[in-house]
Amino acid sequence: MNQKINIGLIGFGTVGAGVARALLEKGRLLEERVGARLVLRRVCDKDFRRRRGLRLAPRLTTSDPFKVLRDPEIQIVVELIGGLQPAKTFILEALRRGKHVVTANKALLAHEGQALFAAAARANANLSFEASVGGGIPIIKALREGLIANELDTILGIVNGTSNYILTQMKEKRLSFHEALLEAKHHGYAERNPSLDIEGNDASHKLAILTLLGFGIPVRQPDIHAEGISKISQADIQYADELGYCIKPLAIAKREDHELEVRVHPTLLAKTHLLANVNGVYNAIYIHGDMVGAQLFYGRGAGQNPAASSVVADIADVARDIAGGVNRRVPLNRHPAPGIQRLRRIGNVETRYYMRFMVTDKPGVLARIAGVLGRHHISIASVHQKERRAARIVPVVMMTHEAKEADVRCALQVIDRLGFVRQPTVAIRTEAPRAK
Ligand code: HSE
Repeated sequence: MNQKINIGLIGFGTVGAGVARALLEKGRLLEERVGARLVLRRVCDKDFRRRRGLRLAPRLTTSDPFKVLRDPEIQIVVELIGGLQPAKTFILEALRRGKHVVTANKALLAHEGQALFAAAARANANLSFEASVGGGIPIIKALREGLIANELDTILGIVNGTSNYILTQMKEKRLSFHEALLEAKHHGYAERNPSLDIEGNDASHKLAILTLLGFGIPVRQPDIHAEGISKISQADIQYADELGYCIKPLAIAKREDHELEVRVHPTLLAKTHLLANVNGVYNAIYIHGDMVGAQLFYGRGAGQNPAASSVVADIADVARDIAGGVNRRVPLNRHPAPGIQRLRRIGNVETRYYMRFMVTDKPGVLARIAGVLGRHHISIASVHQKERRAARIVPVVMMTHEAKEADVRCALQVIDRLGFVRQPTVAIRTEAPRAK
């Protein structure tokens, strides 16, 4: 008879219901694969009246989280309520009581990861978080285990399914940003507070987790430059397309000399880039390591079942550890990658830029703009004036060579004060594969 492992679930929302269903409906299959019986012993939520497509036996449900946290029979607590508090208190309480914890809470790990990982180490318990990044993609396991022999130089992620879905819908169906956001909400992809998705915070939480695992460096949220997609317009999507690019919401961590760049922003990618065809709610994480070279992890990054798949994988891993009598089989890597001395300030980042100027169509305008860019050491790679006969304001689109962010900001401040510039200039960074 296989050992019984009791699981307590706090949070019976979209993902929680998916996890409960998998544990209840796939119990036998999971037992065969894991070598232990995964028993859902208690589910806690404030409200069980909302329909979730799954009915739980009343003896399983409670509205009191301490009925989970203080139950001596429960060995694994699954936290799926999200947000900072009371999730942090619940996780710390579970660890203090010697329970293992599985969470999908990327915001909490990004903000309080150090305290939580230290508490788990003190308790000699697992704190597992596969569902925190990339939904159903086993990227956490890949980074912590599969790629342990590598020094990474690049992590590029499309890690916010909602943003990717919105930009894809805007491009393919020519929807406005707001129409596409409504669709994302309708499908249940967006966070309860969708500004976390569209302003880049959710991706920035996930990037902090990837950076910790990939480079051994804990990055504070204020140190990640994060821009969302809400300022991306239909016009920029179309012009980028005409120039051979798509616009993707990227989370970037990469080494440049002795520094690490960590940033989140909409980015132009050549249509030939490996990440360019990651569309809709799909996520993908591109990694380059010194031994494996390039790798691409691709899958559904949001939605009930993909996230539940990762939560159950964590539960299975912990259950195997318990059954095998080993705790913390994979401790957290706390060793910063050799050679990285500091984070690079955003002003020192160098990329090629897409720029769209909205200007009055009259002689001398291009020369004035080019002059300001030149004085700020920004070299123009190509210029495209988009004829719009009906209006006196025309878009001028430029691609630059590599330029320093601080120079671009200064130049655009000057340009946007010129009388013939009729709207704030749009500047979007590009990302090209490393030349090697
Ligand atoms: N809101 C998140 C996303 C869900 O859009 O990717 C998964 O973390």
